Amino acid sequence: MSGYTLVQPDCPVKLNQNECPFDVPEELKREIVDEALASNWGRYPGFVPGEVKAAIGQRHGLGPEHILIGNGSNELIQAVFQAAVGRGDRVVLPAPTFTLYALMGRIAGADIRTVHLKRDLSFDVDRLKEESAQPGVRLVVLCSPNNPTGSMIQPEEVAAIAEAATGLVVVDEAYYEFCGVSCIELLDRHPNLVITRTFSKALGAAGLRLGYLAADPSVAREIEKVKLPYNVNAISLIAARTLIGQDALIEERAALIRAERQRVYEGLRELPGIRPYPSHANFILFEAERPVAGIFHGLIDRGVLIRDVSRYPMLERGMRVTIGLPEENDAFLKALREVLAA
Ligand SMILES: Cc1ncc(COP(=O)(O)O)c(C=O)c1O
Repeated sequence: MSGYTLVQPDCPVKLNQNECPFDVPEELKREIVDEALASNWGRYPGFVPGEVKAAIGQRHGLGPEHILIGNGSNELIQAVFQAAVGRGDRVVLPAPTFTLYALMGRIAGADIRTVHLKRDLSFDVDRLKEESAQPGVRLVVLCSPNNPTGSMIQPEEVAAIAEAATGLVVVDEAYYEFCGVSCIELLDRHPNLVITRTFSKALGAAGLRLGYLAADPSVAREIEKVKLPYNVNAISLIAARTLIGQDALIEERAALIRAERQRVYEGLRELPGIRPYPSHANFILFEAERPVAGIFHGLIDRGVLIRDVSRYPMLERGMRVTIGLPEENDAFLKALREVLAA
């Protein structure tokens, strides 16, 4: 099987991984580091990171028994697959979507049922409902806003899929802060839902590897069984406690990214032979009339790295650009203009 890989040439403008262009502010870093210095590194962290779970749960009106903390949200997605999916079990995945889900499904030996997005790259809710209701479906994974398309699914549509589904329904809300629409409120009516969130995107802490999931306590208990003990290190737990309450900072940054997203979208729309798709995340998918490889490498030659997504289903002409700082976005648009004119 092919693994999860990334081509990563060194470019001064790096818009290929949907990271936050802003680092964690220095005063918060110092707070975290000071607390880390005062702690005893010779001891394991608490067996259950109760304090961090409580702080995260509280933000969503949930008790700590609903929350699991991961070394990145990817780890928790892996844990859900391990807990829920055995050889031959069905897993329903939209396509195109984040490639990790299919990888996890293949490792588990799952029978993966693909539901393509509609031509406009919106979710095909009727077909998802139909497939999710089939016997033997243990897991449905919905990414909203969806990577790499930027399209989203509405909570009432997720509720209908969860209602119909015979197994768990994960909603990966890694890009939640850029759209503001969440399915967490559905948890009390749909105990088969699992919501994942990350510190890697709007929070700007991808390097720390922190994510969490919210689920019904009965589901969280089962997923916890496959999670390794002490999966999140003591320093990351200190960082999680410091960063989780930074709502004003997150909103300020997300608002800037949303404004830049609109500006880049309009910039792309003006370019000949380029078709951007509206996005609810911190990236934009666009298609080009010209072959992707020439544009992708032309941008690298000009110091701008984006993501070639042309091997994803339905996206033969697709590229994805992360929204960066205003000057990075300007550099991208200028470089693309040059490549198209060359
Ligand atoms: C949809 C989606 N989920 C999860 C992740 C990874 O999150 P984390 O850094 O928390 O593991 C990404 C990263 O690109 C993503 O696109």
